[in-house]
Formats: sequence, structure tokens, C-alpha cells
Amino acid sequence: LFTYDLERMSWGRGARRKAGRQQPTDVEAFDPEVVAEVRELFNKVWTYVKPANGEWCIPDPSEALRHPAQDHVLLQTLKTSLNEVKNRLSDKDLEVWHQHTNSINRAGKAPGAFVAALNHYLKTSQHTRYCDWSWAANTLNPYHEANGGGTTITDNRLIANTLPWWFFGLDNTGDIMSQRHLLDLKGFVGNMRSIDGVTADGSFDCQGNPDEQEALVSSLHYCEAAAALFLLGPGGSFVLKMFTLYEHSSVCLLYLLNCCFRSVSVFKPATSKAGNSEVYVVCLHYDGKKAVRSLLSKLIRHFGPDLAVWEALFPSKLLPQSFMAQHEQACSYFHALQTGMIGENLKLFEGLNEKRRQRLENIRDCTAQEYLSVSSLPRARWLSRSTVAPTCCSVTGRRPLGKKNQMGSFNQRRLAAGPGLEGACWEGPLRCLGGRARPEGMGACSVLAGLLAEYHMDTWFVIVGAALPVVRNSPFCDGGLLNHLNEALEQAALGSGMDRSAAWTLVPPCSSCPMVGTTSILSEVAALCDITPCNGKGNRKCLVFGRASWWGDCEEQAVGLTLEFRSEPSLPPTAHITLHDGEPQYQRDLLACVLLSLHHMGPGDALLLPILSAFTCITAATVLCLHLSFRSITFRCPSPPGAAGAVLVCVGFWPEAAARLLPHLGDLQERIGCQARGEEDTDSLPHVGQRQVLQFVPMEELLKGELTEFLLASTASILRPHLHLVLN
Ligand SMILES: C[S@@+](CC[C@H](N)C(=O)[O-])C[C@H]1O[C@@H](n2cnc3c(N)ncnc32)[C@H](O)[C@@H]1O
Repeated sequence: LFTYDLERMSWGRGARRKAGRQQPTDVEAFDPEVVAEVRELFNKVWTYVKPANGEWCIPDPSEALRHPAQDHVLLQTLKTSLNEVKNRLSDKDLEVWHQHTNSINRAGKAPGAFVAALNHYLKTSQHTRYCDWSWAANTLNPYHEANGGGTTITDNRLIANTLPWWFFGLDNTGDIMSQRHLLDLKGFVGNMRSIDGVTADGSFDCQGNPDEQEALVSSLHYCEAAAALFLLGPGGSFVLKMFTLYEHSSVCLLYLLNCCFRSVSVFKPATSKAGNSEVYVVCLHYDGKKAVRSLLSKLIRHFGPDLAVWEALFPSKLLPQSFMAQHEQACSYFHALQTGMIGENLKLFEGLNEKRRQRLENIRDCTAQEYLSVSSLPRARWLSRSTVAPTCCSVTGRRPLGKKNQMGSFNQRRLAAGPGLEGACWEGPLRCLGGRARPEGMGACSVLAGLLAEYHMDTWFVIVGAALPVVRNSPFCDGGLLNHLNEALEQAALGSGMDRSAAWTLVPPCSSCPMVGTTSILSEVAALCDITPCNGKGNRKCLVFGRASWWGDCEEQAVGLTLEFRSEPSLPPTAHITLHDGEPQYQRDLLACVLLSLHHMGPGDALLLPILSAFTCITAATVLCLHLSFRSITFRCPSPPGAAGAVLVCVGFWPEAAARLLPHLGDLQERIGCQARGEEDTDSLPHVGQRQVLQFVPMEELLKGELTEFLLASTASILRPHLHLVLN
């Protein structure tokens, strides 16, 4: 990923350059002033210098985590001043501002994929190119459907292609702020000889309260740092992304790191936008493992989302003056850089004269020259060769899952966030929905034809993890749309005072979303089935899950088909409206319908199965099983009242394929049943009722392009009428 973007940055920009303009071939060819500015860009670093008297040492653990935090006057003044400068951006439209800062950013952007970048560095640098290395990583699992809401990143290109290296913990959430998770992570990396490096750049969306970004992420940074001290071997290195360092929590953390590592620097990379607060704390040579042991035990005992939130890690009186002085200088240095750059950005936003534009172009070209010294890495040596299609590219943008489009200025967004659904944010979903629905409730990519050989059922296994309280994200649905739907369902139910389940089922048909009638679905099935009439009757059965009254009176359309009706999976009970198809009872019912079908259908038969939605990995995998058991499947959003969701139209049953799937589905039914009965109660999992079956087909299989496209199209069709109704 890193390699690819660097190549694009240098060659791509060259291609777009005005004809006739020569690109200088090395840095020396540029104006010395430009070269000096570019050198500065690569040299934004502050290194702490430890006093020779050994004064900086780990404080007495009994004093840790028991005193209140104290503000530091100078640091708080810097915070106020920075926020004042940043507030001058509050009326700028975010999209326009980002375009502007991208256009004048001196370095361009490189993706932050630490592991890929490290791989690139290790495999191209003189000293390490022959060194073998291995890695393991942790992040909030983008495939745990309850993760989201501005904390989880959608860009799953690296993860999807390197899943065995990722550890999401026994609850499958990937939350590093859980003590249990940390201990299990230690076990996961237990087969590595020693850990030489830990990098951590955890963060989440703080755009709702940008002034307090540092305080909001402080406990996550503490957990990451404690994890690094716990996992690293002697002599190891640690890189921690932080933001501003003004709060007492950051002061204590920087002091602790200085006590544990031989050298600590705060570094602002050239690739990081100079106007934001992001900095990287680079800690080299861990030599305090023994000295930190008892403090670390205390940190691990208090480990969790509140770590060092209520009580300071150390009281101010234990922080040496010599450290405070250096820390204040470091903060003043980065404050000056950042406020200077925001001021310059604002000035340039007003207008860019030709001379200034020319100079910026020179700086950018000169910066690109610096990157040309980075060797490219042959694709064969990349970490990820992208064999799994990136689902993030099929949906709108790569913002954190479940997050609204950040549109307009901060001030506009704050106003829009007022009471009710009538905020500016609603423009987003309408745009995503592309106005009207496709004719006949059907999407593009809406037919799947069976391809059994491409799937490796011997690798399928069941994953049980933390139960879903709500479905906030799905690899099979645009995160922004799902977020809007959840909000709409919650508020519609609250506003009308009606039963929450009714929000799904009792909505009147949306006039702008043409849907298919049951008659046309049945005639389509009849046309697709290979029917040989015999004694005036067809030789094909069509198993229909749903009330006979919806379908029965159009039986004559299904010429040659024998319709057999069964009751459809029950809708989730009240109070589970935003759990969608993640509701365990619903999943059990759906699975029972599929098992019944696969057991009882004959070759060439058809199936009509309603699904509420297909947001979860369980429903997605169930659709996959149908895909593999039928010649073709498609979906239709029918009009009968009460038929929430879509109907899967499956044609041309293959009993041989189904026979291979039945053991897996039987196993799944057994495991889901165990969860419902409260069995499988092991220490290693969350308590009964707090866990559920989350997957039974590996993500690599579920993310194969055609299936994902099919599911994205079907969930968009399911969502569309609901969002249209709310918007209307
Ligand atoms: C800036 S992104 C990291 C980007 C990544 N390094 C890359 O190069 O693509 C911040 C990450 O922090 C992770 N994160 C936030 N809270 C977390 C938590 N409690 N546990 C684990 N990861 C968390 C999010 O999942 C998100 O992917």
C-alpha cells in the first residue's frame, strides 16, 4: 500500500504536469530557500535529554493512580491558544477546507498502514533487507457488527488480505482496552521469540468535540502504552501516535516513557498534515522492564476504558522540574509549528497569487524528490497482494464505519445535530441512494450463480464472541446509510410512541420506490424453472416461506409450479429494532428455514425465502449457502404489507451441493442452540447472554467480490424505501 502510493505520488503527478515544465532531477537543483524549507519539513522532532544524575526514574507505584490530575499553567495556556486558532476554522466547509489543505500540503499523503510501511522499510533498507520478520496486529474488528460509531475504520484492504495475523480477542471485538484482551494478546504472540517493536496509532473520531481530542483519547493511549510495556522485550522500540501533549495525563505518560526507554523523541512526519495535532512519540531501547514491573502490574490491574481517567498516573510533585521544563519546550515548539501552519493555510485560503503558487509547486516537487530516494518494493514482497476485493471501495468513502458524512462546517454540523431528524446530515443518504429506487426493487449485481469449487468448506469454523446489542456496521452495507437507518428507526419509534417493531412493519408503501408484486415474482420463478409438464401439473416444487394469502391467490401465474407454503422466520421481537438480522432468535429461525429447505427440496426446485436484511456475517453466510445450493439466486423487494426486507428468489436446487453444506449448517444450528440454552459456558468467553455466534464462514470467503456485490445491492434495496419514507 505504501509502495503503491509513493509511486503514484511521484509518477502520477509528473503525468499531470503542464507541458514544457522540466522536473528537476535532484534536490540540489532547487532554490536553496526551497531546499531549506523542505529539510525542515522532514526534521520536525523534539528529543528529550535525560539529566546525567539519573533523576528521571519510575516513581513509587504506591503513589500511582491515587491522586487527582493537576493542570499545568503554561500547557493550558498553549491549549487555549491553539483552540482559539483552530476555532477560526469552525465556519469553513470541511470538504472545501480539506481540498484546500491537500492542495497546499507540501508532502502529499501516504497511507498510515504501519505494518505495510514497516515491511517496506525492512525489506528495502540496506541493514535489514535480508532479515526475516513476523508481525501480529490488533484493531477494533471491522467485522464485529457492533463496532462502529466513529471508532472503527472501514478501509479493510490490508486486514481482509492478512486476517491470520490479526488478533481480535476471544470476544472477537478487538478492543485493546479490555484487560482480558491484553492477557490473551500476550498468549497470541507467545510463540514469538521476543517482541522487538510495538507501534500504536489507535484513535477515534473526535470531531464532535475537537477542543478535547487529547483528553478524549487519553485512556486509549494509556492502554496502548501499558500493552507495549507488557509485550516488548528488552531493547525493544515503541512508536505511539498522540495528539497535543498539554494535559496532565500526557505529561505523566511522556514521563513514564522517558523513564522506561533510553531515548524518547516527539516526531511530526512530513507526511502528516502540518495543521493537525498528530505527533508520533518514538521510544527507543526499552531498558526499564525490571524497574517498571510493579507499576506495570498496577496499570494492568486498573486496565480498561477508565485507565488514568479519574486518578492521575503520578501526582505533579513527583514529576521532576527538569522534565517539566523540557516537556514545556517540546509543547511550545509543536504549538508554534501548528498554529503557524493554520495561520498560513487561512491566509492562503483567501487567495493564492501566482508567485506563491509557483513556490508551493517547487516545494512540493522538491519534497517528492526526497521520496524518490525510497526504493520501490516488488509486489511479490508486499504484505498484501490484494487477493480479496476491498469492500470499502464499493461503498461511499472510507470514513469510520457507521459515521455520518462529515459535511459542511463544524458550526453548521453543530446546528444540524440539534433535536430531530431534520439536520443537514440527511442530504448524505439521499445522495447515496441516488434518488429513486431501481425499477422492480432490484439492484445491479443482483444474480448469483453457484460456484461451489471456489469455496473451501474444510476451512469453515464457528466463531462465538461478544453479543451484538445493535448492528452498527456491516461489510455488506454502506456504514453511513446503516447509521441513518438506525437513527431513523429509533426516532420514529420514540416520536410516534408506537411499538418499536412496528417501525419496520407498519410503514405505508413508499411511493417513490416501485416494488415488485408477488404475481410477477412467481411468474419469473416459473419462467426460470426448467418445467416439464406431466398430467397437467408441473414437475417442479416451489417452497415459499410466507403467508399463503400473500402468494396463494396468484398461483395461476406459477404455471407448472407446485407451491408449498411454510411460515417465514419471525421478525425480531420489540426492543430489538436496531439489531436487524443480528437478533439471535431471528437467526435461529432463518437457519431452520434454510435447513428445512435443503433437506426437503428436489433437484431443480425453487425457493422463495424472505430475509429481513443481510447486515451480519451470519445472514451473509446463509445467503452464501443458498448461492452454493442453487443454480441462481436473486432478490426482490416485494410489495405485500408486512414483508419487511427482501425475498430471496432461488432457482434450480442442487442436492449434491446442499449435501456438502448440511454438516456445517447442522453444526451451526447446534452451536446457536447451545448459546440459547446457556451451554458452552467456559471461562474464556463473555457470560451467557453476552455472547452469540458471530460467524461460521471465514471472512475471506464472505468477502469474495461477487457475493459482496450481491449483498451490498440487496441491503441498499432493503434500506432505500425505509430511508425514503423517513426523509419524506
Ligand atoms: C488512525 S486509525 C489506524 C490506522 C491504521 N494504522 C492504518 O494504517 O490504516 C485508528 C485505529 O484505532 C483503532 N481503535 C480505536 N479504538 C480502539 C480500541 N479500543 N481498541 C483497538 N483499536 C482501537 C480503530 O479501529 C482505528 O482503526
